[in-house]
Amino acid sequence: MKNIGIVTSGGDAPGMNAAIRAVTRLAYSEGFQVFGFERGWEGLLTSKFGILTPRSVGGIIQLGGTILLTSRSLEFRKKEGLRKAAKTLMKNQIAGLVVIGGDGSFKGAFELSKETNTQLVGIPATIDNDVYGTDETIGFDTAVNTAVNEIDKIRDTAISHERVFIIEIMGRTRGFLASNVGLTVGAEIILVPEVKFDKNRILKTLKENSAKGKKSSIIVAAEGVGDTRGLTSEIERKTGSEVRLSILGYAQRGGSPTARSRLLANEFASEAVGLLHKKEGNRIVGLSKGEVTSIDLGESCRTEKILDLKLLRLAEKLAT
Ligand code: F6P
Repeated sequence: MKNIGIVTSGGDAPGMNAAIRAVTRLAYSEGFQVFGFERGWEGLLTSKFGILTPRSVGGIIQLGGTILLTSRSLEFRKKEGLRKAAKTLMKNQIAGLVVIGGDGSFKGAFELSKETNTQLVGIPATIDNDVYGTDETIGFDTAVNTAVNEIDKIRDTAISHERVFIIEIMGRTRGFLASNVGLTVGAEIILVPEVKFDKNRILKTLKENSAKGKKSSIIVAAEGVGDTRGLTSEIERKTGSEVRLSILGYAQRGGSPTARSRLLANEFASEAVGLLHKKEGNRIVGLSKGEVTSIDLGESCRTEKILDLKLLRLAEKLAT
């Protein structure tokens, strides 16, 4: 095997560049030529790629985003798109393709694996941490820290104005980010998409808190829980407190990766290149109980990573 490709796909995550750098350098030292496909799967549809070398990936370990650019390609999902991508791989004799992304990217990779002999290896990188087969994804720790830093600042104004703040953080379908952030900022209430929230329970908790002498509260809500704007006005109306909504948004996806995210990027890259060297494709690498390991790509795509509700329960106990 002489040529391998790298693609970053889906939402960017801090640490993707560190992974690109590590895969490129490790692959080079194994004698591979490395192709960097641009704009996610689109790069395979349009044959847009550049050759990556140990020098061309210098100075990027600390950068957020992805130098390869990314996108969510609809065309790639169609049979014709998959075939076109497979053709690009064959034409350029790409024996192994490293896919850096989240669960959507891996589902795409799994479909592509049915059309190609190229060995596909996934490196989980998403702020959502929702990939089955790894306890943690690249970028998650950075996003948690970004959100925590912002919410600590909002806490200052919440205390000064004696207000309730609803802070909406990313996570359209999953609450891994919200539960970790909520616990570590000492949120009074955490709302995640996995658990339907009960407005009356929220109102009751806030009323009890104020009776206990709490003059401000932080509610951390994942974006997927529903209408946070409506919830804000309803709480204001029904409690008589001043309530504000703050949407943290895309800032959570950017910024320099933390040491933890870079560490995972390097370790995952090493495992991924090792798999390609052994010609073991169609796997995703991951962290399991502190060990870097890998699981079958199809199994990862078919299985939902379950949110452990114990963090939510602990946060509730601590918010007394
Ligand atoms: O998957 C990462 C993520 O940031 C989610 O948390 C969020 O719901 C989604 O991407 C936003 O997607 P887009 O970049 O397409 O707006």
